[in-house]
Amino acid sequence: MDILKPTAVIGTNAWGGSLYGKAVRGSYVEDDIIIDAMRAAKEEDIPLYDLARDYGLGKAQRMIGEFGTKDIFISAKYTPFTHYKPGCVRKSLEKDLKDFKRDYVDIYWLHLPTDVEDHLNEIIDLYHEGKIRHIGVSNFTLDECKKSKKILDTAGIPLYGVQNHYSIICRDWEDNGLLEWCKENSILFWAWAVLEEGMLVDPRIKKRSPMKFTFNRKIKKLKGLYKVMIKVAERHDIKVPQVAIAFCSTKGIVPMCGCRKPEQVTDLAEAVKVRLTPGEIRRLEEAADTANVNIMGADIFRAFVLKSKK
Ligand SMILES: NC(=O)c1ccc[n+]([C@@H]2O[C@H](COP(=O)([O-])OP(=O)(O)OC[C@H]3O[C@@H](n4cnc5c(N)ncnc54)[C@H](OP(=O)(O)O)[C@@H]3O)[C@@H](O)[C@H]2O)c1
Repeated sequence: MDILKPTAVIGTNAWGGSLYGKAVRGSYVEDDIIIDAMRAAKEEDIPLYDLARDYGLGKAQRMIGEFGTKDIFISAKYTPFTHYKPGCVRKSLEKDLKDFKRDYVDIYWLHLPTDVEDHLNEIIDLYHEGKIRHIGVSNFTLDECKKSKKILDTAGIPLYGVQNHYSIICRDWEDNGLLEWCKENSILFWAWAVLEEGMLVDPRIKKRSPMKFTFNRKIKKLKGLYKVMIKVAERHDIKVPQVAIAFCSTKGIVPMCGCRKPEQVTDLAEAVKVRLTPGEIRRLEEAADTANVNIMGADIFRAFVLKSKK
């Protein structure tokens, strides 16, 4: 796998312990199954894992350190829940590296646009020290991305990517020009929650989960979209969630999927090889727009962004 041209990313948000798994996903997956999923990722040539300190209450990072082999790729993040303090990023990355049992991460994202310049400058220092191979930003607006690119340009470092929420039913970044800007500037766009945390999977396969309970009202509104997804899936002989993944990859977006099981990894790897037709994309978008489900795509983490002190 070429880290500059990744086809898919494995999300690790749900690699938690028993209580965490049940609370967040409605079920717990044994470590052995996750280890099998990691094996499948290697076989499918998508050994790229997206992490953050709090995923699975820290368990995801520790599992990568314990079971990840040297040839996997690690995407990690600094989450600025408070204002910038000198050394804060370094301290957090050092803890990450200890978890990962290695001396660098492949991609490091500034998780929220708080004190962007200060945080990015510290990330740039860590890049120069070889602890970070590529730098990205996550949950940033177009203006914030432009500002970040300028800071990195000045340091002679390319902005690797933008990691934001995107799916068939959450296309704000397309409407407000961020996706186009990424393309024009050869910046990757990684989409998180392309399956909308389980909402864009096959509605005929019933699963009990607190998430699904929360989404119940929205799921009712999505009936029309599910119909189109099922038709597209049948035409390509793929599964319904694979349509949501292929929707992204057809548009040149890198899909990130929460995979805890080997079959989910295989689904992801197969789906990114499928190309939907312009007509299928249009029908999926029309059905999504008709459903008009409010997902808070662009704004979901705005509440956590702190106002600049300067
Ligand atoms: N940068 C950010 O701020 C940010 C925010 C959120 C997430 N992320 C990243 O994005 C990743 C993906 O998001 P997510 O995990 O929250 O949600 P997601 O990938 O949209 O959805 C995960 C759900 O989809 C199900 N699923 C996965 N593969 C499937 C398949 N092949 N067939 C049927 N169902 C399937 C899972 O089922 P099971 O429950 O059975 O496993 C789970 O319920 C995260 O893990 C994280 O790495 C980043």
